[in-house]
Amino acid sequence: MSHGSPPVAQWPERPAAEQQERTAPRPSRRRRRLALALVMPLVLLVTSCASDAPQTTLEPKGPIARSIDSLWDGVFIVAVVVFIIVEFGTLALVMRFRRRKDDTGDDLPAQTHGNFKLEIAWTIVPAVMLAVVGFFTLRTLFEINDFDDEALTVKVTGQQWWWEYSYDTDGDGEFTEEDVVTANDLVVPAGVDVNLDIGSNDVIHSFWIPALNGKKDAVPGSIHELAINADEPGTYVGQCTEFCGMSHGYMRQRVIALTPDEFDDWLANQEDDAQMPSEEEAAAGAELFTTQCSGCHLARGINDEEFEEAGNGEELLVSGNAPDLTHFTSRGVFAGGIFDLWLDGDGDGILEADEIGGKGVLNRSAIEAWLRNPPAEKPMDAPYVPEPGDAPVRGMPNFNLQEAQIDQLVAFLATLD
Ligand code: CUA
Repeated sequence: MSHGSPPVAQWPERPAAEQQERTAPRPSRRRRRLALALVMPLVLLVTSCASDAPQTTLEPKGPIARSIDSLWDGVFIVAVVVFIIVEFGTLALVMRFRRRKDDTGDDLPAQTHGNFKLEIAWTIVPAVMLAVVGFFTLRTLFEINDFDDEALTVKVTGQQWWWEYSYDTDGDGEFTEEDVVTANDLVVPAGVDVNLDIGSNDVIHSFWIPALNGKKDAVPGSIHELAINADEPGTYVGQCTEFCGMSHGYMRQRVIALTPDEFDDWLANQEDDAQMPSEEEAAAGAELFTTQCSGCHLARGINDEEFEEAGNGEELLVSGNAPDLTHFTSRGVFAGGIFDLWLDGDGDGILEADEIGGKGVLNRSAIEAWLRNPPAEKPMDAPYVPEPGDAPVRGMPNFNLQEAQIDQLVAFLATLD
């Protein structure tokens, strides 16, 4: 135990020149600061000017996203009022009690420490405001987590670096290969709630379609529930929002909402097996697909046996899973959603349902480029073609295919509608 006063820290005296600089910045530096202070708000302002920004929560396209947006509107108004009172109050006080030329520094303004009424007021007012915001926040949370148990449920699985969607079409409560399995494009009926059971096969991802609901983490080993609901048929885009490795920034997802009738047709088509093509080049492609691709990819009706024998891709990939290609060309995008599978007919940058399939033009050159060297098209950790017993890879390796083989594979893939 030491007695007496504690030692007082002694700061070394600052050189006079430096003190001078601190109290009075040189004009050039002052000018630079002023310029920066003017430019920064301008930069911020410009960022709000994007006209083509589909990934915004501020333009909700369904009832769930709308209830989040109206909560945000209310909280924003409260925050703006508080901001104005605090900032302008601070500025007013600074102006009023600023140091004047004739100030000697001896005459302090009246001290208000211990003003009981003031202290009670600035404790109670924020507490009441937070309680009100908290009440509406909780109400919205309960609202958006009130799931309709009768609604269609889709299992969403994040993996490096794409999304898989499984529909329990036989209604046995399980999501298996016998059910409809698709990738990247989540197809749903418009105007109704769709429940999502979100999980992951490898690392933590996060599912986010800003126009339809908030974010939900995809965590390996657990299932998180989220509901989405789109007012109108259309395409709603989003992206993975949890850093998940190399191609996190390329891990996109899209929701395609169809009219209920169109959705039923889509689902019925997805339930069909693929047909062995009769055309010569495509048939050669199917053959090649069966020998080269069965380690990871399934095209139901084409390579079921070989896929099963190879272990369903479980050993060769870290995620244990590659996209099911049975209805490859019924999708709008491929490779985690970074490439359009069809040409964008109206050039608006978003591939809609009416530009996909029989109504569109296949983006052949993108598929060819992908097959030529996948890791060159999208950063992936697939340095070699794995064999059983090798360390598993993340993503699709380069198979060093010849151009003729690529043509055959594309001809085959084009038949998977
Ligand atoms: Cu998946 Cu980031």
